[in-house]
Amino acid sequence: MTMENFTHLLQHPVYQLIETAADKLGVSAYVVGGVVRDYILHRPSTDIDVVVVGSGVELAQAVAREISPNLHVNVFKNFGTAQFFYHGADVEFVGARKESYNPDSRKPVVENGTLEDDQNRRDFTINTLAIALNGSEKGTLIDSFGGIQDIQDKRIRTPLDPDITFSDDPLRMMRAMRFASQLGFHIDPETFRAIKDNAHRLEIISKERIVEEFNKILLSPKPSVGIQLLDEAGLLVQFLPQFDKLKGVEVINKRGHKDNYLHTLEVVDKIAMVSSNLWLLWAALLHDIAKPATKKYDEEHGWMFHGHEYVGSKMAGAIFRSLKMPVNEKLKYVQKLILLHLRPIALVEDTITDSAVRRLLFDAGDDIDDLMLLCEADVTSKNPEKIKRCLANFAKVREKLAEIEEKDRLRNWQPPVSGDLIMQTFGLHPSEEVGIIKTAIREAILDGVIDNNFEAAFELMLKEGEKLGLKRNDL
Ligand code: CTP
Repeated sequence: MTMENFTHLLQHPVYQLIETAADKLGVSAYVVGGVVRDYILHRPSTDIDVVVVGSGVELAQAVAREISPNLHVNVFKNFGTAQFFYHGADVEFVGARKESYNPDSRKPVVENGTLEDDQNRRDFTINTLAIALNGSEKGTLIDSFGGIQDIQDKRIRTPLDPDITFSDDPLRMMRAMRFASQLGFHIDPETFRAIKDNAHRLEIISKERIVEEFNKILLSPKPSVGIQLLDEAGLLVQFLPQFDKLKGVEVINKRGHKDNYLHTLEVVDKIAMVSSNLWLLWAALLHDIAKPATKKYDEEHGWMFHGHEYVGSKMAGAIFRSLKMPVNEKLKYVQKLILLHLRPIALVEDTITDSAVRRLLFDAGDDIDDLMLLCEADVTSKNPEKIKRCLANFAKVREKLAEIEEKDRLRNWQPPVSGDLIMQTFGLHPSEEVGIIKTAIREAILDGVIDNNFEAAFELMLKEGEKLGLKRNDL
């Protein structure tokens, strides 16, 4: 137990009210877990977890009464917890518990316990810290497992024998990697050893919970730290086996290709430096996922990954489904970026034509800026000159994109002449002819043959109608 007083960390107004209510009820209350860790690390935190040696629900209701008779308290009877929102914080109350787990399920057997019992059942020493909120102990930090020292040493370590902690809840193995990546901490060797030994136990954890932790790794300052750890411990292969195949370099006739695993990690890290868009990070993670499946050696051109952008976008769908991730517009966005990720590079290699730029704008729509970020991050090479050259070329593509966008407004393009107007003009029902005319207008605009406006499109529609032998019906 540390004698230093930590009252200064209890800035949120709820703490004063908890003190009053807990004193009135004659129980001891503590703020515990992640929030204490974050206070000490000066990280923002809005989840306040309170443990009471007594009834969490009763204390929550008593504190709520101190605030206002109308404050809504959510009570979860089955878990013995209660929660409310107050002054921007999500405040949760629970009675101190002693838990033991059945090895085949995550359902704990719960009994009332002491604060120490409650600290014992937590995942890492850095998350076991508690600060007393009332009585003579107020402001005292209860650090039963050397959590403060571990924060100072940037160490992730379980409070109990790690085999017990991980077998109680195997998700904690993912959490260890997540905290390492998020906080820049290292994992204690004994804890890491236990993760390796228990990696297969991840199978009892739902994909949703695994992905939640994995997403936090992707959103951490340097995601490759967490991903590499997941890989070394044998966890990654449990839920993203496709990723494993990216590893390694094959050499034929002294010609090798990039190690796509290391390349992907580099691309993800570069995106993390410029964006906190989770789905752009997923696109970076999966942009080359089909390279192993499409790899071929060609005597003339060396290693080829023909169609990997197309196969990759399909694989992204299968991966999202296997991870029970949302199959919605987020997936579509990821698939679109994977599918288009070679297009700006192709533009750089050819002389940049207006028509190719127009087509890219048309296909990427509002996601063009994210696509450019992905493509720029995709430039990885040991040769700094090459990187410089590529990025300079991309800068040219960006200029050209801005120029064409201003002139032609193709982002989120809508046909200047609608299908309805085509049908009205020629007295048509929905038919093949309508499609033919619409396509001709779109292609002419993209090729720069006509301007992107109503007059030019209307005129072309008339010409195309004539070619098809259609008669005007609107005169
Ligand atoms: N906890 C645990 N085992 C888990 C999940 C959580 O022991 N599988 C404990 C930890 O003590 C943790 C606390 O419950 O500090 C709160 O959990 P949670 O809010 O998920 O995590 P935080 O540590 O607060 O981190 P974050 O808010 O970044 O998710």
